[in-house]
Amino acid sequence: MASNGKLDLDYLVQPDRVHRSCYTDADIFARELEALFEHTWIYVGHESQVKQAGDYATTQIGRQPVIMVRDADGAVRVLYNRCPHRGSMLCNELMGNAGQTFTCSYHAWQFNLDGSVYAIPAKQGYDNTRFCMEDPDASMKPAAQVESYRGFVFAKLSEGGPDLVTFLGGARMAFDDMCDRAPEGEVDIVPTCFRVIQKSNWKIFLENQLDALHPSVTHGAVGKVATDVEEAIRQETGQEPPLKYHYLSAFTTPIFKWEGLETVGHPHGHCVLQGYMGLRPQDSDTLAYEDVMRQHYGAERTEEILGVNVHHVLVYPCLSVQSSLQQLRAVRPLAPDRTLTEIWHFRLKGAPEAIYRRSLDYYNLVNSPSTMVNADDLYNFWRCHEGLRSDGGDWVSFHRNAGMDHDKDGVMHSATGLSELPMRHMFGAWKQYLGGAA
Ligand code: FES
Ligand SMILES: [Fe+2]
Repeated sequence: MASNGKLDLDYLVQPDRVHRSCYTDADIFARELEALFEHTWIYVGHESQVKQAGDYATTQIGRQPVIMVRDADGAVRVLYNRCPHRGSMLCNELMGNAGQTFTCSYHAWQFNLDGSVYAIPAKQGYDNTRFCMEDPDASMKPAAQVESYRGFVFAKLSEGGPDLVTFLGGARMAFDDMCDRAPEGEVDIVPTCFRVIQKSNWKIFLENQLDALHPSVTHGAVGKVATDVEEAIRQETGQEPPLKYHYLSAFTTPIFKWEGLETVGHPHGHCVLQGYMGLRPQDSDTLAYEDVMRQHYGAERTEEILGVNVHHVLVYPCLSVQSSLQQLRAVRPLAPDRTLTEIWHFRLKGAPEAIYRRSLDYYNLVNSPSTMVNADDLYNFWRCHEGLRSDGGDWVSFHRNAGMDHDKDGVMHSATGLSELPMRHMFGAWKQYLGGAA
């Protein structure tokens, strides 16, 4: 499998199966963080998390703790969360306002919001030493590249490679779709999120997001209960049930309908799963929202925007976006068997409050600590990881519809919605990154 510290990637990742060690091996995990997460564009946060100068939010890129901060000149910067003096992390909170400078709580070195050193105490002690305020080593280190697309901020810790827009390619639709659904063309983040630690490898999570066979199996019981409640509401009130029940009853969508969907694989490992929920109800809230949209965009453009039908867009390797439901999940691998997901949601600027409430219903139903949906997924993820750790077999099968998907101008299209194209496609990108070719 590995010789002289070199991975035999052709053995580990085959066209229709991958070796279990890709999920469980500590050395492979370390290589993933270095060659993939610290070598490509990773989502850091949304500009609306840092509206005022000094506002910051902390997170991590691969193994690196980082700070996203709004500088005094209005620019959004991404800096390593490390004091150049003796290495202490400078910001220990998830978010806050640093004022005009970051001040280290250990020995009070101070840094401007762009990371450059501003002041250090007992400065005369550095006279006649090699220390120099102008030396970059005296300042906080910035990420090598920072760009944002429609307010979504990404950073890359290495130089070179494609710019963000080129990297995103077809996956830009995630952000276009979410922002276009806002009458004002922008979204505002809700400044708190669910943070979930999954006891499983990060790739199991991403694979699940586009696994169209699992909803009717894994979530079938929840779907059945929601369907029964919908029926009871219809009988008792003569009215159509609120949309939130449909979010769950949609899990009873029969398998042949999932087959009729399509998944798409874009360059760099990004994937898209077509929508299946049919989120275009005719209730009064939706109709009022559509009126506002028409006022901003006109009838034709509004139809174009609301006609976009995607369920998940994966921005490989760090994001799963549900644009029509205004939420995203950021993936932060912690260990081979531990993954943090940050689940954020957004308000459509200019849309009626009821539309936000509707997306909040989905956000809570699917992600909250009392959810019956993510709980089922998390249990699956843990069981998968434990099984992969065992000696019960060496391979993970991605054979379904292998060789049947088709390539159109460099974009892969699945033979059916149940094709394991997304898993094969993501591992294709994984292999390139770990081989140093991406
Ligand atoms: S470690 Fe930050 S000032 Fe000393
Ligand atoms: Fe699920």
